[in-house]
Amino acid sequence: MKQEQLKAQAAAKAVTFVADGMVLGLGTGSTTRYAVDMIGEKVKSGALKNIVGIPTSEATARQATAWGILLGDLADYPRIDLAIDGADEVSPALDVTKGWGGALVREKLVEMHAERLVIIVDSGKMVEKLGTRGPLPVEVTPFGWQVQARWLAEKLGCRVERRETDGEPFVTDNQNYILHCFFPGGIDDPHAVHRALAGRTGVVGHGLFLDMVTDVIVAAPSGIRHLRRA
Ligand code: A5P
Repeated sequence: MKQEQLKAQAAAKAVTFVADGMVLGLGTGSTTRYAVDMIGEKVKSGALKNIVGIPTSEATARQATAWGILLGDLADYPRIDLAIDGADEVSPALDVTKGWGGALVREKLVEMHAERLVIIVDSGKMVEKLGTRGPLPVEVTPFGWQVQARWLAEKLGCRVERRETDGEPFVTDNQNYILHCFFPGGIDDPHAVHRALAGRTGVVGHGLFLDMVTDVIVAAPSGIRHLRRA
C-alpha cells in the first residue's frame, strides 16, 4: 500500500473523533492536509456543524478557509477540544518530534492548549529513539543565529545546519530561522534536551513534543492501530 494511502487512512480515523461544536487545532503537513480536507468536506456538506478551527500555519489557514471552515485564534479560543497533527517521529512513550514542515512553534502553541492531541502517522514514523530518522528542528531568531548554532553543537553534541532552500534561509511564519540538529545515534535524553533549549534566550521553540500527545493513529499496510497515552 502506498504511503499516501496510509496517511489518508490515519487522517480518516482521527476525523471520526471530530464532533459538532468542537474547537479544533488544525496541524500542518502532508498527513494533516488529508484531515483538513476531510473536515472541510464535512463542514461544506453540513455533516459537521459549529466547528471552529485554530490553524497552526498560514498554509493550513488558507486550506481551511478554502473549505469554508470558520477560523479562530488562541486569544478567543484558549481551550481546544481536539487537535489533529502529523509528526516526523513517534517514540514508544508516544513522545514525538515535529517541525520538518517548519511550523513547530505555532503547532506547539496551539497543541499545548488541546484537551486531546491526536497524532496521525504512517508506520514509517515509529522509532525506538527520537532523533534517529532525521534532525531536530530548533527555531531561532535571525539575530545572532550563528551563536545559537555554535551553542547547540557544543551544548547538545549535535551537528547543526541552518535550514535553507536554494542557498537562502528558510523563514518561518514567525519570521525566524530553523536550525536542524543532527544527533549521532539519536537523542538519548529528550527531557534534558528540552530543558537546555527552554532556558536559552533566542531559541523560540523546538520540535520535541514531550508528554503532550494523548493518542497516536498509526496506519500500516497490515491495518490501523490506535495507541493511547497510559
Ligand atoms: C510541520 O511543521 C510538521 O510538524 C509536520 O506536522 C510533520 O513534519 C509531519 O509532516 P508530514 O505529515 O508531512 O510528514
